Amino acid sequence: MKTKPGILLIEDDAGIVGGLKKELQAEGYDVAIATRGDEGLVQGQEQEFDAVITDLRMPGLSGLELVAQLHAAKPKLPIIMMTAFGTTETAIEATKLGAYDYLLKPFDMGELLELVARAVASSRLMSEPLELGEAEPSQSAIIGNSRAMQAIYKEIGRVAASSITVLIRGETGTGKELVARAIYQHSPRAGQPFIAVNCAALPEPLLESELFGHERGAFTGAHARRIGRFEQAHHGTIFLDEIGDLSPSTQVKLLRVLQEKYIQRVGGNERIPVDARVLAATHQDLETAMQARQFREDLFYRLSGVTITLPRLSQRAEDIPDLVRYFLRRSEAELGLAPTTILPEAVTFLRHQTWPGNVRELENVVRQSLLLTRGYPISSEQVRLAYTRARKPLAAADQTLGAYFTELLTQARQGELENVHARVIEDLERELFSRAIELAKGNQAKAARWLGVTRTTMRQKLLHFGLHPGPEPPT
Ligand SMILES: Nc1ncnc2c1ncn2[C@@H]1O[C@H](COP(=O)(O)OP(=O)(O)OP(=O)(O)O)[C@@H](O)[C@H]1O
Ligand SMILES: [Mg+2]
Repeated sequence: MKTKPGILLIEDDAGIVGGLKKELQAEGYDVAIATRGDEGLVQGQEQEFDAVITDLRMPGLSGLELVAQLHAAKPKLPIIMMTAFGTTETAIEATKLGAYDYLLKPFDMGELLELVARAVASSRLMSEPLELGEAEPSQSAIIGNSRAMQAIYKEIGRVAASSITVLIRGETGTGKELVARAIYQHSPRAGQPFIAVNCAALPEPLLESELFGHERGAFTGAHARRIGRFEQAHHGTIFLDEIGDLSPSTQVKLLRVLQEKYIQRVGGNERIPVDARVLAATHQDLETAMQARQFREDLFYRLSGVTITLPRLSQRAEDIPDLVRYFLRRSEAELGLAPTTILPEAVTFLRHQTWPGNVRELENVVRQSLLLTRGYPISSEQVRLAYTRARKPLAAADQTLGAYFTELLTQARQGELENVHARVIEDLERELFSRAIELAKGNQAKAARWLGVTRTTMRQKLLHFGLHPGPEPPT
């Protein structure tokens, strides 16, 4: 199913080409090289790649012209521009012309690899067709023929054709992101970019400049203008994931963008019209958040032009057998294993469990079972073992955590402690970040990737907790 992602590297400096090629191949990419701009353009147009990395100054065709022409031919292909310091204005020009992002030389290899990984993921999201409710899917699919899922497919069909804002709700792991992709792929904007932003992954000021961009000098460290994701999603679709985590100030700004359909970059006055279709998702209970005045009602009504609410997995248990077979095939392909069968008792066992982690948890259990079998049909013992193991870290932590919570709450009740919630989050985060950086042997990029946070967040947290970040990885 999955082949190696392909990268086209357009660069005339043999030294840079050699170094980058090795690093990219080590990360598991297929790398094609063009040493002239015009050749790169032809290759990019005629062959299939998941991302393009290009230099700015090259013989044949400049990086800017390349971006303009290649983006016009393939609007969904992410192009990353490398450019020497001092040519930031040009880099910004490139993003306006449709480049996915840019990097200033000299750059950190970890930074480049992270950017490439993001670009490849987004290009796969845009290009892998999603089939709805297929029992024998060839590629990515939304599986399930239960009534509850049939109703979801209908809703997807109803909203796909228009540009109406859709709020996708449901517990964690129920498939909200999949639904967002399906709406996009069935919409008239399917030929234009789909830009996903995780609103929970960045602290407020960074998120605002990520979404709306910023002008040079807007804040300390804003050395150059930045084009935000909204501007990049012009004519396309923007997916605002974890919308329940937006800060009050960002909520106000987003509301204005939704109402007036223009953006202002942070620190700028220019009103820039944007035509982006907005899809949003959250697992949070927005009604409670609104009562607590943490989420604005006006924004809620703006966002929920239409709401699609995904059912819990336990509300569609009849889909479990199909899901199991689908995940089995997908895991086999990903792990490079031969096809395996699963015994009917094992499927029955899975069907009758509760799934607080929903479809994602089921997927993990199937994958773990597959790893336990070593080629034999999967039995119910193996499935049971995988299921308990998946639960174990939480169950083990449960007792100690319970004691710790009780201790804090008792202190609070006696008036010795305020703000237990903030304290718990802080304690858990400190523990999590320190373990991650320790396991990653000080490699911040790696630890950030495991945790699913940006490197900026990683650095900030390490500083905040006074954790020794260790040496930066060699570049
Ligand atoms: N109906 C489905 N068919 C096939 N795969 C599914 C289905 N629902 C979820 N998945 C898979 O389960 C995993 C979780 O799905 P997804 O990321 O869309 O959930 P989510 O609702 O966005 O979760 P979260 O709130 O934690 O972000 C993904 O690997 C996805 O491919
Ligand atoms: Mg999600």
